[in-house]
Amino acid sequence: MAAVANARPSKEFFVGMLTRDIDLQDAILDLIDNCIDGVHRQIAKRPPKDRERPFKGYHASLNISKSTFSISDNCGGIPRTVAEKYAFRLGRPADMKAEKLPTVGLYGIGMKRALFKIGRESSVTTNHEGSIFRVAVSSDWLDDDDDWQLPITNLSQKTAPESVRGTHGTYIQVNQLYSGISHDFDNQKSQFLLRLASTISTHYSFIIQKGFQIQLNGEVIKPAVLGLLQSDPKMPKDQRIDPFIYTTNRNGVDVDLVIGLYRRLPTPEEVEQELEGQGATGNKEQCGWSVICNDRVVVYSDKTRLTGWGEAGVPAYHPQFIAIAGMVRFHSTDAGKLPVTTTKRGIDASSDLYLTVKDIMREGLKHFTNFTNHWKLDTKQRDALIQSASAVKPFSAKLAVKQGEWSDVRKGLGGKKFVPNLPRPPKTRDDKVSIKFRKPPNEILLVSEFLFDRDDMSPDSVGEACFDRILARASK
Ligand SMILES: Nc1ncnc2c1ncn2[C@@H]1O[C@H](COP(=O)(O)OP(=O)(O)OP(=O)(O)O)[C@@H](O)[C@H]1O
Ligand SMILES: [Mg+2]
Repeated sequence: MAAVANARPSKEFFVGMLTRDIDLQDAILDLIDNCIDGVHRQIAKRPPKDRERPFKGYHASLNISKSTFSISDNCGGIPRTVAEKYAFRLGRPADMKAEKLPTVGLYGIGMKRALFKIGRESSVTTNHEGSIFRVAVSSDWLDDDDDWQLPITNLSQKTAPESVRGTHGTYIQVNQLYSGISHDFDNQKSQFLLRLASTISTHYSFIIQKGFQIQLNGEVIKPAVLGLLQSDPKMPKDQRIDPFIYTTNRNGVDVDLVIGLYRRLPTPEEVEQELEGQGATGNKEQCGWSVICNDRVVVYSDKTRLTGWGEAGVPAYHPQFIAIAGMVRFHSTDAGKLPVTTTKRGIDASSDLYLTVKDIMREGLKHFTNFTNHWKLDTKQRDALIQSASAVKPFSAKLAVKQGEWSDVRKGLGGKKFVPNLPRPPKTRDDKVSIKFRKPPNEILLVSEFLFDRDDMSPDSVGEACFDRILARASK
């Protein structure tokens, strides 16, 4: 009798578990993430000349139809040893060295999970510095519990598919699509590809702005760009609209936060329409907080407690705040330090780093919700203020802040912040407030006689006359 019990995983169960909880869209984004991680490895070897657009010249092209899925890139390819030892393992081995690059790959699962999610037959063909090979996953392999190895086939320039022939890059193809996936990929039956295009344009907005190109079925995807209003530094200090900014570096993570206005404040009619759900489409899409980890937008335009709305003295989202947008960026060469969830499409709300930054997010947000409270009335002056400011790239806003305008942050993660001195509307007659107090009737009567030589004046008039007398003396 054998002295061991068989604990080998059943492949069907394992693959099922792996793919069950991942959304199809997130699985595809994992493949795009791998391309961008590839670019980081490339530019670490050959630093780009254009520092503003370091990803220029690199691309990922997706071709998706109801019968097949493919993604090809020119991001350097997979080295042979990496393919043999690591890239196809289900989970990153413990002895793998950290790369010290601003990548997001961490668990060693993304690529395989995406392939298994989409179809029963796939292949990864890659050209790394001229070494070309293919790793194939067949449906027979998926059915075989005993086979945990994948064949590698060497290819030559002649036999390689065109997309990796003269290019150092990777070509992934998936066939035998699962029927639900095939349905989602069918433009006639589903909106999936439209949604995917829009998610790519928001989630990779910074990466695309840095020069990376993403194509979906031949269309180049444009980045969703948002500018924050900042006044010309020559404007008088008390009439400037500037974003609130915070920046720090702690334990190998750079944190940059910026929040401000990205459009004019809404008119009362607009607020009304939004409340009734009749607002223009896309109106409130950009407002709220976005969180960015190593250039990937992991939370987009959030208006919930996750980003500090409706807690600790900050009002819950309301259309009055539709003009407010904020962004927090975390950057690290150690992906494990980023406060992202395991799917990398959300923030780990319990991370200490995130919770500490969230205190500052709330402070900045409150600054702007208060501002909109003061400027609820749709006046010419309000319009003029907003028009005097122009849209700037959110993370460039700090360049306009002068040395002496920063203040040190002592608690939390330290660092420095710029708190804008936002304008208040001038006081008008309508700004009067009431003073209320209670006094015994006989005392009011006495004061009435003293002031007016009669004892039947109303308590209001008596109180007001007292105030006016003292005001006259105080103003001398
Ligand atoms: N398009 C690509 N270009 C270059 N290398 C790639 C590409 N796709 C995958 N790889 C290599 O394959 C490895 C495995 O990818 P996979 O997505 O499964 O895991 P990961 O990126 O390391 O971690 P995570 O599960 O967090 O994404 C990558 O680390 C990388 O070395
Ligand atoms: Mg990955």
